Amino acid sequence: MSMTLTLLTTTAGLLVVLCWWVRRNNLAVYPAGRAPRELRSLSSGCELGTALLAASTDTATGATGSQGGTATSPPPAQAKAPRRQKRHEGPSRRDFLRFGLLASMGGTLAAFAGASLGFLWPTLKGGFGARLDIGSEADIAAGIAEGGGHFEYPAGRSYIVAYDAAQDPNGAYAEVTNGAPFMALYQKCVHLGCRVPWCATSKWWECPCHGSRYNRWGEYQFGPAPRGLDRFSLTIEQGRVIVDTSTVVTGPSRGSGAPLNQAPEGPHCDGS
Ligand code: FES
Repeated sequence: MSMTLTLLTTTAGLLVVLCWWVRRNNLAVYPAGRAPRELRSLSSGCELGTALLAASTDTATGATGSQGGTATSPPPAQAKAPRRQKRHEGPSRRDFLRFGLLASMGGTLAAFAGASLGFLWPTLKGGFGARLDIGSEADIAAGIAEGGGHFEYPAGRSYIVAYDAAQDPNGAYAEVTNGAPFMALYQKCVHLGCRVPWCATSKWWECPCHGSRYNRWGEYQFGPAPRGLDRFSLTIEQGRVIVDTSTVVTGPSRGSGAPLNQAPEGPHCDGS
């Protein structure tokens, strides 16, 4: 956020300097392609200003001389000495405008890129995308009991459910449970990405978007979802439950013979 503010401030400063410079030099600007033919070859504001001054002086002299010859020209001694032309050192007005425009565009793009990166970059300390310590083993077990079969950890976009290796004799989930009595499921529906809530009556996961349903272990049961819920690797380290949300493990496919044989334990939450 601070970087974005800095970039925006820099861009605004450049624009202010650009406006000040143009006003200070009081420059006349012809629209593109409308400059008189004789001025089109001039490359800088100084040359343009000098040419315009000379043209206006010629016009004034001609107007004076055309008044029927009655007016007399001032004696040479009283004629004003020609004004010394100011010469501007450094870059021309065109170069300055070009540079200012490019700097403003660059600043704006940098500010936009910084804001986008700040928004999209995963929070690697304690947020989704990191290895998360979600609590002690005892606390998670108590949380699952309190939740009627699940524990939600919003910062990790995870649900934790009890896992019993005796119900998984082929070790289908051994790689994600790592000997722990828990399994971590990703909350995102594998159909189109809605968050799948827990249905307290059926004790299944039931997606409200298009009706996909998964049993307690996140195995596919019904609806348009192509497979079971994705999951995360979970370990227990020194009594703490660690969920690694840096890697999403693809859920079991529809026909993989899901090991948990769990019928709905009550009515479904969509009323069916
Ligand atoms: S997003 Fe869940 S069923 Fe479509």
